Amino acid sequence: MSAIHPATAAPATARDALLCRVEDRLRDLLATEASRWSAVDPRAAVPVEAVAALVGAGGKRLRPAFCLNGFLAASGDPAREPVAVDAAAALEVLHAFALLHDDVLDDSPLRRGEPTAHERHAAAHRAAGWAGEPRRYGEGVAALAGDLAHIYADRLVSELSPAAREIWHELRIEIMVGQYLDIRVAAERIADPELSRWIAVCKSGRYSVHRPLTLGAAIADRLDLAAAFERYGAALGEAFQLRDDMIDAFGDSAVSGKPTGLDFAQQKMTLLVALAMPRDERISRLLAGQSAGGATLAQIITDLDVQGEVERRIDHLVQQAQAAIAEVPIDPAWRDELARFAVQVAYRQK
Ligand code: IPE
Ligand code: IPE
Ligand code: MG
Ligand code: MG
Ligand code: MG
Repeated sequence: MSAIHPATAAPATARDALLCRVEDRLRDLLATEASRWSAVDPRAAVPVEAVAALVGAGGKRLRPAFCLNGFLAASGDPAREPVAVDAAAALEVLHAFALLHDDVLDDSPLRRGEPTAHERHAAAHRAAGWAGEPRRYGEGVAALAGDLAHIYADRLVSELSPAAREIWHELRIEIMVGQYLDIRVAAERIADPELSRWIAVCKSGRYSVHRPLTLGAAIADRLDLAAAFERYGAALGEAFQLRDDMIDAFGDSAVSGKPTGLDFAQQKMTLLVALAMPRDERISRLLAGQSAGGATLAQIITDLDVQGEVERRIDHLVQQAQAAIAEVPIDPAWRDELARFAVQVAYRQK
């Protein structure tokens, strides 16, 4: 049987073939770790299983897809495919780390349609009647599982060149700084649209789009593409997170697999809230109220046309992303695929 070769196949087919290899890599790595630690003591495998449960619960696999898009669009040497596949897998396990910690930071009960790790383990602690505080225990498990995922991710990038490794380091630093700013600005209730926009880029846009794409190109040794990919990735990364904020405010939990209205309940200074707050005094009052009034907030934000304004910003960012790669020296089929992918990411429902 002759396999379709990624370098010559249609862009989406080539990427999907490598994404299948990423899934195999993730499954094998986590299964091997779980059985290794189960053999020591079944309890020792619990943090590994928490990572495996999250990774196995699905997700859109956008970060691996962007990494492989970057590698393939840059005509990466097929001999470097194993490095690209491992880096793509690393990005997904790193994402699992970020999500495990994020759900503790955001006090979220739901992720990918399942109870979050800290909730599940707090419930197990409570049901078993163990000593100590169930919540502290559950959050402890999620923190440790997240750290474990971070180490697995790091192990998967051991073959990166110094230039590619630098992208990996920056990407991780940006997550931590961005996540801190997210909780800090919420705590201080700073309604500054430019700051909210920048936090969306720093905590999410960079590690979700921009850095994975440039990492893929760096593995292909095409550092000449970095500037165009940065412009595409910065614009689309921001659009990605603005859509996430819109899904949180106005989406359907049954579709997104996450709670609706959680950002309001957590008083997050998303761009939506930062734009709406100075325009209507009810926003501050409703945010501060104990019963968050998420539906009312969503309605006011819509009535103020702030939802429309953010929608128009997303449109503008998608156009910017597409313009950034219109002339880039890659196969035209890949230019089209990156332009199409931008639309898929920016206008998703979940
Ligand atoms: C969710 O990311 C976390 C953010 C950075 C907004 P995704 O929307 O990519 O979530 P999954 O991986 O598909 O579940
Ligand atoms: C999360 O942003 C960013 C990271 C995981 C680093 P959000 O808090 O908006 O992500 P969701 O909405 O919970 O997926
Ligand atoms: Mg969150
Ligand atoms: Mg968060
Ligand atoms: Mg969100």
